[in-house]
Amino acid sequence: MSNIRYVQSLSPKQKPDASNLEFGKTFTDHMFLLDYTEGQGWHDPRIVPYGPLTLDPAAMVFHYGQAVFEGLKAFRTKDDRIVLFRPNKNAERLNVSNERLNIPHLDEAAFVEYVKALVSIDREWVPSAEGTSLYIRPFIMAIEPCLGVRASKRYLFAIIMSPVGAYYKEGIHPVKINVESQYVRAVRGGTGFAKTAGNYASSIKAQEEAKEEGFSQVLWLDGKEHTYVEEVGSMNMFFKIGGEVVTPELNGSILAGITRDSVLHLLKTWGVPVTERKISIREIYQASLDGKLEEAFGTGTAAVISPVGELHWQEHTMTINQGKIGELAQKIYDTITGIQNGTVPDTFGWNAVVE
Ligand code: COI
Repeated sequence: MSNIRYVQSLSPKQKPDASNLEFGKTFTDHMFLLDYTEGQGWHDPRIVPYGPLTLDPAAMVFHYGQAVFEGLKAFRTKDDRIVLFRPNKNAERLNVSNERLNIPHLDEAAFVEYVKALVSIDREWVPSAEGTSLYIRPFIMAIEPCLGVRASKRYLFAIIMSPVGAYYKEGIHPVKINVESQYVRAVRGGTGFAKTAGNYASSIKAQEEAKEEGFSQVLWLDGKEHTYVEEVGSMNMFFKIGGEVVTPELNGSILAGITRDSVLHLLKTWGVPVTERKISIREIYQASLDGKLEEAFGTGTAAVISPVGELHWQEHTMTINQGKIGELAQKIYDTITGIQNGTVPDTFGWNAVVE
């Protein structure tokens, strides 16, 4: 394990019941930590018992939100190997977020090595039941104690891990989504493409309001014209309209999802017509009226593939595929989860084995 220091937990925890895992509620025995200090760079990689962090109350992250994060998963394959799904893409995207938040670059090979080292130590925590995985949450925060608004001179990179089942209580069953008509998530030139805490903080009010109305999530429209579909905070969106699959293009205010990228690869390989372009909510509504809105589904690491059975926009309700999962969404779900659990050949080389 190269230069990673290891302090073993002396009180390993009881593992949760794999048939009843709530997303992100229980954590493994260890966590990974790495410090950054201006002039010294990233240093002192270590795996230590999972536990509270001690931070100065003036740590800049608490005041100005200079924080980025990632999400990826480890799977236990049918032949009992442990694999990560495309961890190099998370390493790349972390640096895209770092760049936007003015956080120092982290070596991408080292990122993958750190994730693998932590998963390897807590490998007993990778569940094997269908639909389960070990969710991995790497994150970086500004920890210099200072109330001046400027870039921090100290950062902490941490990785924590949580055995998980489905992100939505609906699992693979279709969710109901409200198209947000008042608030916006991101604007061009802002931080929409970065995986940064503030994007999620500003989405919570709309999400809670939608939840009270019985929706699982909100679908964000663009911040300028309030016309074009962007993303659901935890997922990118795909629509199948008259045989063609459309997903909003990456325009600077949408997160470049790794599952989104994987779905695009699969669709292209299967010869399914797919376009990345601007798509207005009005076009989707019209397609629904014309009987051409065949499927809608979200994609994300936590959510995997989540079919949308109902889309509400202003006073309109669009019921999609009679509220049932579509054939294409099911095929994509089966293929991606099959690659991850080793029952479908990994022809793209997406799985990275943890020794
Ligand atoms: C992920 O899918 O990994 C995410 O980070 C989304 C988060 C809202 C759970």
